[in-house]
Amino acid sequence: KKKILLFADVGIDDIVALIYGYLSDDIELVGVVADYGNVPRKRAIQTANYLMTYVPEGKKFPIIGGAEIPMTAQEPTYYPEIHGEYGLGPIIPDKLIDTTENFFEIVNIIQQYDGELTIVSIGRLTSLATMYILYPGLMDTVKDVYVMGGAFWVPGNVTAVSEANFYSDPVAARLVMNYGKNLTIIPLNVTDYSIVTPEMVDYIDSKGRTELLKPLLDYYYSFYKKRNPEIQGSPVHDAITMMAPLFEDMFTFRELPVFIVTTEGRINQGQSITDIRPYTKFGEDAKKHRIAFGFDYNKFYRRFMSVMTGE
Ligand code: BDR
Ligand code: CA
Repeated sequence: KKKILLFADVGIDDIVALIYGYLSDDIELVGVVADYGNVPRKRAIQTANYLMTYVPEGKKFPIIGGAEIPMTAQEPTYYPEIHGEYGLGPIIPDKLIDTTENFFEIVNIIQQYDGELTIVSIGRLTSLATMYILYPGLMDTVKDVYVMGGAFWVPGNVTAVSEANFYSDPVAARLVMNYGKNLTIIPLNVTDYSIVTPEMVDYIDSKGRTELLKPLLDYYYSFYKKRNPEIQGSPVHDAITMMAPLFEDMFTFRELPVFIVTTEGRINQGQSITDIRPYTKFGEDAKKHRIAFGFDYNKFYRRFMSVMTGE
């Protein structure tokens, strides 16, 4: 079983990733760090706590309060029109439980799973960057890191060139790129194709394994459909990132230098740049990471459906 510590900004696709994580027999979730991002930090924490009521006994894990604001000097922007007020689409949690300041728990978790821990980051990178600043030695003991973020020479989803997780705190994203080891990036290049259609949602719902998925993905889909009437379903960026450590064969990767634009307030804030020219000098001082460029939809479809339906 993969032992996964998740850093999430607890929006709809984050929650789909979380559901995948606790339903899968191949994943052991050992903690969730709830960060500002899709929703404010307080709500991200309350929602993560609320979700624990759905997690089966024996699979429960601690919820850790993450970052409130980015390292980049700007106020966060939240996205209720995509994710709902609490990141749960139309659902408002009936019990609001706050986790108080327990960020140090991350240190205990990394120590406890010494050398065996995979970190999956599916939100803004502020909390994770803090770990590299404060605990460089400890971070060396993490087995590998998977990051949902970036758009490499394809359109962004916040600006023409920037993806939301990198755009919202480019300083943190750059730190993680500069100091991260054994790091794999799952960018929009592949996640934009991880489409879940309304037919898939209805089929999953009919199997009764997860009652949460339908209200969440119906809400999420209505946003995407309004924005682009041609679209057949909605992309579950964070869910395929959660699946990535299990299914390397779902992607094609290239090891390339990664550079994040940290300029504030411009169209290219948070842009992720790589260099695919074979003769280049660019990138000699930028660290190389594994970037997913290709994606096998059929493999995704089978594996996603199998965990969500139990079939
Ligand atoms: C990413 O940004 C967040 O809003 C989503 O949850 C996902 O992690 C997509 O750009
Ligand atoms: Ca997210």
